[in-house]
Amino acid sequence: MGLILAIESSCDETAAAVVTTDGVVRSSIIATQIPVHTRYGGVVPELASRAHLTAMPKVISEALSVARVSLSELTAVAVTTGPGLAGCLLVGLQAAKGVAWAQGLPLIPVDHIQAHVHAVFLKDERGAGESPPAGPYVALAVSGGHTSLCRVEAPGKVVILGQTLDDAAGEAFDKTAKLMGLPYPGGVHIDRIAKGRPTDVVALPRPMLGKGLDFSFSGLKTATRYHVEACEGPLDEEVRADIAASVQEAIVDVLVTKAIRACTMEGIDDLVIAGGVACNSRLRERITVACDGAGLNAHLTPARYCTDNAAMIGGLASELLARDLALTGDDLLSCDIHVTRRPKHTGARPSEKPS
Ligand code: KG4
Ligand code: ZN
Repeated sequence: MGLILAIESSCDETAAAVVTTDGVVRSSIIATQIPVHTRYGGVVPELASRAHLTAMPKVISEALSVARVSLSELTAVAVTTGPGLAGCLLVGLQAAKGVAWAQGLPLIPVDHIQAHVHAVFLKDERGAGESPPAGPYVALAVSGGHTSLCRVEAPGKVVILGQTLDDAAGEAFDKTAKLMGLPYPGGVHIDRIAKGRPTDVVALPRPMLGKGLDFSFSGLKTATRYHVEACEGPLDEEVRADIAASVQEAIVDVLVTKAIRACTMEGIDDLVIAGGVACNSRLRERITVACDGAGLNAHLTPARYCTDNAAMIGGLASELLARDLALTGDDLLSCDIHVTRRPKHTGARPSEKPS
């Protein structure tokens, strides 16, 4: 059994983990940058890159020390190479190359979204670890930067069936939360205040609900803005909770409907839900009920592996290593990032005044 040091820095979490080559998590350390970005209401890319630079060495040492592993015991180094914010990805990649080169280890480049959809199969001492289904499965990856429905043939072999045409689901949560005056990132706050509230107080659109597997959330955000503006003045707690519950229901309706549709269209019985938005309690509840009703098996990623983490990078890397997809020599040194992802930043520059 070997040991993989995994590194993740695609957005606003600096993370490192030690995962065995059979996919068992030995440590998973995450340094969040939420306090850095909160006052801007979203991720400021340059601040994020700089925060990764300072946090990275500490996070790597802690991951090794919690796993009681020294650098010389490692088998390989894995790192997120995209999608994500360019400056952020580069910090993680350079750290990973440095460790791999200095220790004479292979480097495993890992796709962030593919890692999210593999995270449900991570094993750990707290009891995580579903067995992968025998055949292909459908995965809904819902996060701050991406909303994709995919058919997963095997770990790392993914066909995109549908994706968002504008905002990601997490972005829809965060931007509507901001309109309601909730702190960044707003998804978790909407989830919290919506609990036990009626879900139909505000009539909101369910964009593209009736057809296909693509998503669009920008109209929902605009409709929420009009509603909040019509309320005039600061929202009282009850009004805010009712808007939150209606927004959450609209997003969840679309996600659940399309995920079930994807399984039906693909003739697949297994559905994995992954990414930060997969923490949402209403989504978890509704997807479980919908899968039961449709005779499908729901695989819900444990909350600790939904939001960005490096354990998921190590987990997928263990599969890629077994398939000989690690890089050495010149290939390792020239390994590059791929950025294709709509960054969830505010557009604000660090020199601008926070709102
Ligand atoms: O996977 P993640 O950590 O980062 C990206 O890859 O983007 O996902 C972060 C997103 C944020 O938009 C956050 O608001 C959302 O996940 N999120 C939630 C909840 N917890 C995190 N959204 C709804 N309900 C939650 N409980
Ligand atoms: Zn993510």
